[in-house]
Amino acid sequence: MTEDHYFTARPASADERRIIPVTLAGRDVAVETAPGIFSPGHVDLGTQVLLRAVPDPRGHVLDIGCGWGPIALEAALRGAETVTAVDVNERALDLVRRNAARLGVTVTAASPGEVPADATFDTIWSNPPIRIGKDALHALLATWLPRLAPGGEAFLVVQKNLGADSLARWIGAQGWGAVEKMGSSKGFRVLRVSA
Ligand SMILES: C[S@@+](CC[C@H](N)C(=O)[O-])C[C@H]1O[C@@H](n2cnc3c(N)ncnc32)[C@H](O)[C@@H]1O
Repeated sequence: MTEDHYFTARPASADERRIIPVTLAGRDVAVETAPGIFSPGHVDLGTQVLLRAVPDPRGHVLDIGCGWGPIALEAALRGAETVTAVDVNERALDLVRRNAARLGVTVTAASPGEVPADATFDTIWSNPPIRIGKDALHALLATWLPRLAPGGEAFLVVQKNLGADSLARWIGAQGWGAVEKMGSSKGFRVLRVSA
């Protein structure tokens, strides 16, 4: 049997698109989703916790692991200067592009290797893919968190019982910036990294 994780590059499941109603940046909107991507039926609870906790984004924003795009779209709707959304899942990248067009905002959707190596970001918002495993997650964060511009801030939401506190300690030990636990809600913790 083919494993069809949401972080597969090309999901095996039928690409049956559907339109769902969601609330983003306080607006009731309709977005396109599909099977084979993360949380296709609604805005994930952890993502909701993140979006409620973060201040409006500053400058150039990066969403690590964008899925169908709730975080990237909200950043664009809340006035980000530019939004870059990365994912390894090609179906997710197609969806975030289509959802940006549907909502009339600009989001650059790219696979990780397509982002220019010298690009830096003022704000990173992410519901990172914890389920890819600790080593892969650490490698992912080591790719993107050093791209925070001086004075930039990253906000990451992590389920408490999936290691939010130990991840906070690990990030703090890497020298990328100060890590603060912003409190928790509904079993999720939001971490802020200030470069
Ligand atoms: C927890 S989901 C969050 C999706 C979306 N941001 C949301 O809030 O609904 C994490 C996402 O990270 C993506 N992902 C997994 N490995 C990745 C990698 N190495 N680089 C970028 N994205 C990755 C997955 O495909 C998935 O879409």
